Amino acid sequence: MGGRLVRVSDRGQVPPFYAMRVFDVALARRAAGRPVYLLNAGQPGTPAPAAVRAAAHRALDTDRIGYTSQLGIPELRDAIAGHYRHWYGLDVGRSEVVATTGSSGGFLLAFLAAFDPGDTVVLARPGYPAYRNVLTALGCRVIELPCGPETRFQPTVAALSALPERPAGLVLASPANPTGTMVTPGELAEITAWCDANGVRLVSDEIYHGITYGGEKSCAWATSRDAIVVNSFSKYFSMTGWRLGWVLCPAELLDSVDRLASNFALCPPTLAQQAAVHAFEGYAELDANVARYRENRDLLLGRLPEIGLDRLAPADGAFYVYADVSRWTSDSLAWSGRLLDETGVAVAPGIDFDPVDGGKFIRLSFAGDGAEIATAVDILAAWLAEQPEQPERFATFHR
Ligand SMILES: Cc1ncc(COP(=O)(O)O)c(C=O)c1O
Repeated sequence: MGGRLVRVSDRGQVPPFYAMRVFDVALARRAAGRPVYLLNAGQPGTPAPAAVRAAAHRALDTDRIGYTSQLGIPELRDAIAGHYRHWYGLDVGRSEVVATTGSSGGFLLAFLAAFDPGDTVVLARPGYPAYRNVLTALGCRVIELPCGPETRFQPTVAALSALPERPAGLVLASPANPTGTMVTPGELAEITAWCDANGVRLVSDEIYHGITYGGEKSCAWATSRDAIVVNSFSKYFSMTGWRLGWVLCPAELLDSVDRLASNFALCPPTLAQQAAVHAFEGYAELDANVARYRENRDLLLGRLPEIGLDRLAPADGAFYVYADVSRWTSDSLAWSGRLLDETGVAVAPGIDFDPVDGGKFIRLSFAGDGAEIATAVDILAAWLAEQPEQPERFATFHR
């Protein structure tokens, strides 16, 4: 009687997001007055568009900022629907748009509405770790599909068809994190059609749409309205901390999503919703951010091979370069910890994104300031020149 309650659930014991831990260490280092070069953070260095910030000020001065509908305010859902007409020529109705607490909140709703415990869901490896960890915590069985440079780190219909069982779901991200790679509109249509033909629920993560460097973006709803499309104001719209995203929800899942949303969060952040109605006035400002990402990308893709990082995923979109560091290590977590400690350059260890081969990779983010990135590359070059090389190099990675 009266002892401390020590029981913790197994389902809570998912791996941490190591990139965020690196971030904490880097910020502590900065607070201590030591130099830090943040190539680890997956977020823009810019604030929200000016129209969003102005709207937030207005809302604070004039509105009570109470709860809203669990699905979001009508003005925001309409504005998001308008975005689909503008960017993709798609007709989307207000009732099909659900505003969520970041795309992270959208994934939780999508996974719970679409899958039951024990259902299998396929993910690309490497991939964004929260898919795997949240699905696991929800009791789903994750099948990680190893995806290499020969398929731009993306699943293909051939690989999906060769799976030993038909899964309940597939999560696809294009552009992807950590590789930045994209599927073409044709490949997306093929995958979407395969999912429909096989009764597989596609969850299409389109959070990096708008941040692309040549490849054409296409929305899963162009082929099938059975897909769940997840998107966010975090990346292109430069609003990570506003915690606002959205889901395009297939008709048969709307009722579940409605029930779940009202129970989980009551509603997405109201101030963010009111302000984000105006995000779609900011395309020009946001495209200027993308132009800067492109310059940073060109700098990294040009310089990294010169300093020995010559196996890089093609960064078609997003703001990441996924780099093979197997010349030096197969423990990128410890290696990047030492890099940060000795130089102040913070990168994300690949182990977040790939529990099998991630020890041989790091992810460098180029969302930040170009001058800081250029300095970091110089520092990295000097540090790498001093590092002992491994006798054997991971043999399977081609450009
Ligand atoms: C591929 C991908 N999906 C989803 C998210 C979650 O973002 P948010 O919850 O801010 O919308 C991230 C964040 O880095 C991401 O990289």
